[in-house]
Amino acid sequence: MADFRLPRNSRVQKGKHYPVENPKGPVRTFKIYRWSPDDDANPRTDTYEVDLGSCGPMVLDALIKIKNEVDPTLTFRRSCREGICGSCAMNIDGTNTLACTREIADCAKEEVPLYPLPHMPVVKDLVPDLTHFYAQYASIRPWVRTQSPTPTKERLQSPADRKKLDGLYECILCACCSTACPSYWWNGDRYLGPAILLQAYRWIIDSRDEDTGARLDELEDPFKLYRCHTIMNCTRTCPKGLNPAKAIAEIKKLIVERRGV
Ligand code: SF4
Ligand code: SF4
Ligand code: FES
Repeated sequence: MADFRLPRNSRVQKGKHYPVENPKGPVRTFKIYRWSPDDDANPRTDTYEVDLGSCGPMVLDALIKIKNEVDPTLTFRRSCREGICGSCAMNIDGTNTLACTREIADCAKEEVPLYPLPHMPVVKDLVPDLTHFYAQYASIRPWVRTQSPTPTKERLQSPADRKKLDGLYECILCACCSTACPSYWWNGDRYLGPAILLQAYRWIIDSRDEDTGARLDELEDPFKLYRCHTIMNCTRTCPKGLNPAKAIAEIKKLIVERRGV
């Protein structure tokens, strides 16, 4: 995989300004991070004025409008525009969140800054390289692991056991939490980070899974799990209102209980 990290000593420079002409409504300004590692020595921020009179209410609407009408080279990910796929995750107005569910009206800064998720390699503009994040996800083997014979119909789960997955199954793997976590910034090569640990817990407490002991053994590692220092940035930023810090604390508790201390 190519290394898209910024060269040392690179500076974010001031880029172009794109004014709006003959607006039909109020105008909002967005300051957007631009960097193409193949072409640019330094990143820059371009400034775009957007006519809110002809734009949808969400930050993603503004990005699509800019790309369609002003600058087709602007690059960002999006798919569902419903807060389901996680692909439009970015740093908006200083917070990691989803562009499709963040209302422009809720952005505080006069020039709304839009940056890629922090401390990740950048593929281009607002698109982070999530290769390592997905490899970490694959490393927890995120499926029901069983040893018992496969039933003829299905593996049953009681309503009470199913309820234990609430607050976990809703995770869309957007990476907002992991890229808000200082421990993940500095040790992301070995620390799994809040998103992957929340997912790990989701399988640990699934009543249909028969590999709980092995899953806990796999996580009992000074780096994979114990780099969490309960700073809580993850829980504060999750756009789905989940609590990865609590899931991490639950894993630590299960490991202690299993040791019988
Ligand atoms: S826990 Fe929340 S912020 Fe983290 S990946 Fe899942 S949905 Fe995104
Ligand atoms: S609680 Fe743990 S995982 Fe969450 S931001 Fe803090 S150190 Fe990172
Ligand atoms: S476009 Fe799918 S979560 Fe935003």
